[in-house]
Amino acid sequence: MATKRRKTAADRALAREVEKVTHVIWPGVLERYRPFLPVTSATPVVTLQEGNTPLIRSRALAEKLGPGIEVFFKCEGLNPTGSFKDRGMTVAVSKAKEAGAQAVICASTGNTSASAAAYAVQAGMKCVVLLPKGAIALGKLAQALMHGAQVLAVSGNFDDALELVREVSKTAPVTLVNSVNPHRLEGQKTAAFEVCDALGAAPDFHALPVGNAGNITANWRGYADYYRIGTIDRRPKMLGFQAAGAAPLVTGKRVDKPKTIATAIRIGNPANREGALQAVKESRGLIRAVTDKEILEAYQFMAAREGIFVEPASAASVAGVLKLAKKKFFKRGIRIVCTVTGHGLKDPERAVKMLRMPPTVPVNLAAVLKRMDL
Ligand code: F0G
Repeated sequence: MATKRRKTAADRALAREVEKVTHVIWPGVLERYRPFLPVTSATPVVTLQEGNTPLIRSRALAEKLGPGIEVFFKCEGLNPTGSFKDRGMTVAVSKAKEAGAQAVICASTGNTSASAAAYAVQAGMKCVVLLPKGAIALGKLAQALMHGAQVLAVSGNFDDALELVREVSKTAPVTLVNSVNPHRLEGQKTAAFEVCDALGAAPDFHALPVGNAGNITANWRGYADYYRIGTIDRRPKMLGFQAAGAAPLVTGKRVDKPKTIATAIRIGNPANREGALQAVKESRGLIRAVTDKEILEAYQFMAAREGIFVEPASAASVAGVLKLAKKKFFKRGIRIVCTVTGHGLKDPERAVKMLRMPPTVPVNLAAVLKRMDL
């Protein structure tokens, strides 16, 4: 039986406050930034309400960099499937559906496959993914499988898998949704829009990890759009960071056997090489390498000192900023945005491998108090 609610004036005021925000539902990046995207009223919207990720002000890294330097993390691991790929996937899969495709395909170091698989479910499509055998984080493999994708492990690296899916999509009735699909990059540029919307301006520097080089290309495109229409009056310098064992854009040479613990960016022949180099050149930024040791230090630093758990590849942007800061690269009075691309829970094995397992204690108060280290 319903009981009569007795509302006080304070309750009614509170209810009005709740009312103000509960009807504002974030629609996803395709609706939010529709005029900037290659969609029409005929395009079906396939979305998991991606985007609107937090831009978190750094405490620990900013402190390390010194006074007068502001740092923000664009936390892309808070997208629906745990990485920035969702921004591009909503557009790519919506366009594939509009074109009548029944299936999508991608090669992936893990995150693209998780995202493609999830959006394919939303679209009612099949999804096939080719992964480099034994070289992707367990969480990502679990996602692709749980979303019902057909997963094939290629006994080669990511670059081999990408070449294969490019061939397959030429002959089989399936749409390629890697970042060579132009719709992917269009969607991914919305991350730069969000950064500007949140800061009210562009930052001075924008640091990103670089693998297949799509994301740095896409973010630069976002800044270019806002600059062209006058929403921002200057653009940031783009700073790209590759893992030292997989740094073809730094060395200028394709890497046949890329090596790094940051499996997401273990890529030797980036498909968006030209876009990335152009972004760096036009913005007067740079692309540098960071070692696995530097990546792992930044990975741990982010979790332990900022409270933000990212996957190893994501920490490459942080490692890069730290490395440049040591060389006094940054002056006072500047703002840096670091994109952290994927969630730490994607790769729990790496975290567990790095740390000691917890000690066991009996079910006993004294024992717990004794072992506690406060
Ligand atoms: N960070 C993470 C977590 C990634 O998954 C990737 C790419 C990147 C950075 C690099 O971005 O390729 O646009 O330069 N992952 C792709 C994948 C290759 O298959 O999931 P990029």
